[in-house]
Amino acid sequence: MMPSVFQAISFASLLLTGVHAWGNEGHRAVGFIAMEFLAPKALDFVRSTLGKPYNGSLGPAATWADSVRRTPEYKWSGSWHFIDVEDKAPVSCGIVEARDCPSGCILTAIANYTNRVIDEDLSADQRLEALKFLTHFAGDIGQPLHAEGKEVGGNHILTKCGGLPMNLHAVWDVGIIKKHLKLNFADSSEAWIESLISGIQFGKYKSRTGEWLSCTSTTQLSRNSQAHEVDTTGTNAQTPITSNSLTFLECPLVWASDSNKYDCSAVFQFTSEDDLCDESSSYYAIAVDIIELQIAKQGYRLAAWLNALFDGEPYLP
Ligand SMILES: *[C@@H]1O[C@H](CO)[C@@H](O)[C@H](O)[C@H]1NC(C)=O
Ligand SMILES: *[C@@H]1O[C@H](CO)[C@@H](O)[C@H](O)[C@H]1NC(C)=O
Ligand SMILES: [Zn+2]
Repeated sequence: MMPSVFQAISFASLLLTGVHAWGNEGHRAVGFIAMEFLAPKALDFVRSTLGKPYNGSLGPAATWADSVRRTPEYKWSGSWHFIDVEDKAPVSCGIVEARDCPSGCILTAIANYTNRVIDEDLSADQRLEALKFLTHFAGDIGQPLHAEGKEVGGNHILTKCGGLPMNLHAVWDVGIIKKHLKLNFADSSEAWIESLISGIQFGKYKSRTGEWLSCTSTTQLSRNSQAHEVDTTGTNAQTPITSNSLTFLECPLVWASDSNKYDCSAVFQFTSEDDLCDESSSYYAIAVDIIELQIAKQGYRLAAWLNALFDGEPYLP
C-alpha cells in the first residue's frame, strides 16, 4: 500500500525536527475533553469565537499553536510551549520560576493569554488567538517533558519505540499514544477520547477530579514567583499584573509541577536497551497511565479555567 512511503517520510521528518508537543492526537483530546465540561457562558464564547473554521470546538483548535510556531509571524511563540526546568531529574525534581523561566515560558504565556482571552478591549481576532494558545498550552503543560530542561526536554536522548529509533520526547508526545490507539482503539482517536471522557464522568478518574481542581484561581499570583517579584505596588491578588514584569499565576505552576514530578518517577527510568513502546514492559504500562491521566486532567482543568473566567466559577462536579 502507498501509505508506507508517506509514513517513512513523515517518520524521518519527525526524527529530524523533533516534535515539541503532544502530537495532534493528544492536543485534540485535551480540547474535546474540555468541551464536555464547559459552563454556559464559556461554551457560548468558545462556540462563537471559534466558529466555522474550527466547528465551534476546542478539539480542532487545539493544534493551531503548533502549526504556526515555525512561521515567521509566530516564531516568537516557540519557547512558550514548555518550561526548561533545570532540576536534577531523575534524582530530584522541582520548578523554580526565577531559575527556569527567566524571560518567559509556558507559565507566563498562560498568564498572558488568560488575561487576553477576557479582555474586551482586544479585537475578536486577538481573543481568538488567546483562546487557541490557552487551549494548546493547557495540553503542553501536562506533558512531563514540557516541564523538564534535561537534554532539551528529552529531545536529545535517542531511544527506541516499536523497534525504531525515536527521541524520548517524541516517544512521550506521540510514540506511546499511537501504539496505545492501535492496540486498544483500532486507531480511532474518537473512541479513545470517548473513553477518557467517560473515565472522568463515571470511571476511574471520577474520584480524582476534586484533587485536579485544588487550584482554580485565575488571578492568584504564584507564591514561588512573588519571592522574586520586583513589583512593589502591593497589588491586590484579584487583579492580574499588567506591568512589564512577567506574571506568574499559581495554577499553571501547580500544573507544571504535576508534570515535572513524573520526570523523576517514570520518564527517565529506563536503560538504553529498552524499547519504550514494548507493550509488555512496565515502562510502557506506566507511561500509558500517566499520559492518559495527564490528558484527561488537563482537558478537565481547561474547562474549569474557562468556566472560572466566563461564568465566574469552575462549575464542575
Ligand atoms: C461539529 O460539531 C457538532 C456538534 O457541535 C458535531 O455533531 C459534528 O460532528 C462536528 N463536525 C465535525 C466535522 O467535526
Ligand atoms: C502576550 O501576548 C501578545 C499577543 O500574542 C504578545 O504579543 C505578547 O508578547 C505577550 N506578552 C507576554 C509577556 O508574553
Ligand atoms: Zn506545543
